[in-house]
Amino acid sequence: MSAHPERHFTVRRMDMQDIADALKIEHQSFPTPWSSAMFVLELSKAGSICLAACEDDVLIGYLIAARYAQVWHIMNVSVDPANRRGGVGSAMIHELFRIADGERTHYTLEVRTSNDGAIRMYEACGFREAGVRPGYYADNKEDALIMWRSTDEDFVPPNASNPTEWKGHR
Ligand SMILES: CC(C)(COP(=O)(O)OP(=O)(O)OC[C@H]1O[C@@H](n2cnc3c(N)ncnc32)[C@H](O)[C@@H]1OP(=O)(O)O)[C@@H](O)C(=O)NCCC(=O)NCCS
Repeated sequence: MSAHPERHFTVRRMDMQDIADALKIEHQSFPTPWSSAMFVLELSKAGSICLAACEDDVLIGYLIAARYAQVWHIMNVSVDPANRRGGVGSAMIHELFRIADGERTHYTLEVRTSNDGAIRMYEACGFREAGVRPGYYADNKEDALIMWRSTDEDFVPPNASNPTEWKGHR
């Protein structure tokens, strides 16, 4: 758990009791929101890291990350609209890093190419873009930007168009 006294929120592990509140935020955040069953599935996986940001015991954000082989995939990050731009999204990402970072830990995610705010947040958290998945989003066929962060400075993402650009970056 991490505390952010300057904003009076904490970040802790998410559990099944948080799903109803998460769905309210989810429906305000995404054109194709996750269902309750999707949250249950991710929360049930032993290897997932699911985080909840809370202010005065009220859920104001959540992050879902699942591990596939050596790579953590950030599958969902969302913050209640009334609480955005207050460092909540970044705090959850840094809590994920605090829990999962090792010598060679890689993280990846997809984000809509139009989602400038989220892309800026991920960049500020150390992610860099490496490739595009064309027409990835079913609702409007928008492309997804693929972003990566690694604790291994020699890591080169599979989608990097110019692998030499990645050498020496973290
Ligand atoms: C994306 C999202 C999770 C960001 O959460 P947040 O708590 O508002 O983010 P933070 O306050 O930690 O932002 C950190 C930095 O990211 C950048 N950023 C975040 N949102 C931004 C926006 N809307 N416009 C421009 N920059 C933005 C800023 O640099 C910000 O720092 P600053 O406020 O000091 O300038 C939130 O906007 C959200 O829930 N959006 C809807 C769901 C979504 O798009 N999720 C991502 C799917 S891939």
